[in-house]
Amino acid sequence: MDGLVQQPQQPLTGRFTPSSQGDLAPSGERSRIHANLHVIRLLRELEEAGRPANEDKRAQLARWSGWGAVPNVFDERKSEYAAERAELMELLSKEEYAAARRNIADVAADGRVYAGDLYDTLHGRVDVLVLNAPYVPTEEIGLLPAEARLHGPRVALDGGADGLDAQRRVSAAAPLWLAPGGHLTDRDEPAPGAADRRHPRP
Ligand SMILES: C[S@@+](CC[C@H](N)C(=O)[O-])C[C@H]1O[C@@H](n2cnc3c(N)ncnc32)[C@H](O)[C@@H]1O
Repeated sequence: MDGLVQQPQQPLTGRFTPSSQGDLAPSGERSRIHANLHVIRLLRELEEAGRPANEDKRAQLARWSGWGAVPNVFDERKSEYAAERAELMELLSKEEYAAARRNIADVAADGRVYAGDLYDTLHGRVDVLVLNAPYVPTEEIGLLPAEARLHGPRVALDGGADGLDAQRRVSAAAPLWLAPGGHLTDRDEPAPGAADRRHPRP
């Protein structure tokens, strides 16, 4: 396939580093949707070919930005996005499309995304805090599967010496942020009675 790396056995190494905003998601709703659709198409191609992305393809993949900023593509009342919606439905399985749509519905319930260091950007009190913080002990990062080790941002993985730095900070400040009777839960907590397989030990 044109432009794909020619050696199927070549491991997925190296990373694309954006050098300017122009290397990331384009601005504008329609352009973002088109960039996202392109990335899904490209991923399908790569998966089918069973090959890693070469440098050029990685640069294209970096233009992905997800659907949070462009929820209108899922809104059937928005006929201006009918063609893009149809294409997305064709590219994704029914389950994948439903999951993406569900995620957007969750975001749209509040309509805002807060970005910042833990609680810094939150205002007021919340009923439920769901934590999905980094939990890998620093020294174990090297043992992670290649896709996480090579491509996961350090900030998403590194949980400090015992992997619980963020959890400690969140628990310590949770009483300030939880409404009376509120709950703090860790998305990665194993279900009651289930073995914790996140860090299997010999
Ligand atoms: C284990 S990843 C989970 C990512 C995402 N929730 C998911 O399910 O794919 C941990 C996330 O915590 C974020 N993070 C790490 N330290 C943080 C901090 N001090 N404040 C806010 N977010 C932080 C990372 O950027 C990363 O997105």
